[in-house]
Amino acid sequence: MKFAARMADIAPFHVMELMAKAKALEAQGHDIVHMEVGEPDFPTPAPVIEAAQRFIATGNVHYTNALGIPELREAIAGHYQSRYGVAVEPKRLIVTAGASGALLLALGILIDPGDEVLLSDPGYPCNRHFVRAFEGRARPIQVSAATSYQPTVEQVAAAWSARTRALLVATPANPTGTLLTQPQLAALRKTVRERGGALLVDEIYHGLTYGFDAETALALGDDVFVINSFSKYFGMTGWRLGWLVAPKECVREIEKLAQNLYISPPTPAQHAALAAFRPDTIEILEGRRAEFAARRDVLLSGLQGLGFEVKAPPQGAFYIYADSSRLDGDSYSLAQSLVERAGVAATPGLDFGSFAPRQHMRFAYTVARDRIEEGLARMERFFRTARQEDK
Ligand SMILES: Cc1ncc(COP(=O)(O)O)c(C=O)c1O
Repeated sequence: MKFAARMADIAPFHVMELMAKAKALEAQGHDIVHMEVGEPDFPTPAPVIEAAQRFIATGNVHYTNALGIPELREAIAGHYQSRYGVAVEPKRLIVTAGASGALLLALGILIDPGDEVLLSDPGYPCNRHFVRAFEGRARPIQVSAATSYQPTVEQVAAAWSARTRALLVATPANPTGTLLTQPQLAALRKTVRERGGALLVDEIYHGLTYGFDAETALALGDDVFVINSFSKYFGMTGWRLGWLVAPKECVREIEKLAQNLYISPPTPAQHAALAAFRPDTIEILEGRRAEFAARRDVLLSGLQGLGFEVKAPPQGAFYIYADSSRLDGDSYSLAQSLVERAGVAATPGLDFGSFAPRQHMRFAYTVARDRIEEGLARMERFFRTARQEDK
């Protein structure tokens, strides 16, 4: 079979291989502490499940409008008003199949073959593949702890070319958990606007910030694209539901693309999500957020105690991006050894880009605190034994 040239540029997740290894070890009876997984371990909140069950019981499960059911678009607009004090017209809101669907739609209406999109490196791996799928070019901006792993105005200005169409940032970011402040976002927006480009802000980890609430980029103006999802804060990964807030003049183009690509977002999930903003659901989610904060503290101090360096404080999401170079020169082989010999799975930096990937690993605190403690104890034994073997 001859595959399209783009497929050579679409890389698999290295973490999938690691997960396969972990699963094989589990099948042989080994216990693995999973800190590689980028999804909350909590079940879907009960009010959301009940709403889905009530809807499915009607049997009325048909296609919806490609932009989503009006009630949900209004509920999401209400969320922006109550949580952020920002008024967003429901007609600018597009319900999508996860943040993934939102990213595809936004990039799909913007990119022509050869157009460039600026992305953070390290960053969420799928973004560069989305750009490639539309025949665009992902231009990585190397971001370090010195700038909280976020791009600066100077870097964006220097990387911008005649072919650049957009800058895509995430705040909080994956894999680093770091944020852009509102003044930083405003400055990036200005830089992008001056060059006639589009600013895309992925806010999928909003709600999962610890000790404070992040502001939305929508407060900066109507020209910003904002991507969000029910996957992370709302704990609904498998429901495949997210949303995009787009400039008004883009909505018709997005609608045409959505109609053609997948007709409509999943109907049961949309009705389930109507219960996601209810006070009883938010109460459950806020409890989980407090638990994530406690887990982060345990994992952060534990990793630092082991010799991992965490150079920029992770303020959100559920990841810690740690420099492992003091412990091992190659995080990829370290990740293999940790899963095989210590029973701890974590993601090697290679999945997140090409800027110092072999010096870094991502640990996700998507498992219970006692499991995190168990993972830390196992790693402590692993490194102690390795040091003894070296002597
Ligand atoms: C930064 C970021 N954006 C987008 C996504 C896609 O999420 P989903 O399609 O489940 O909403 C993820 C998933 O891990 C992510 O980390």
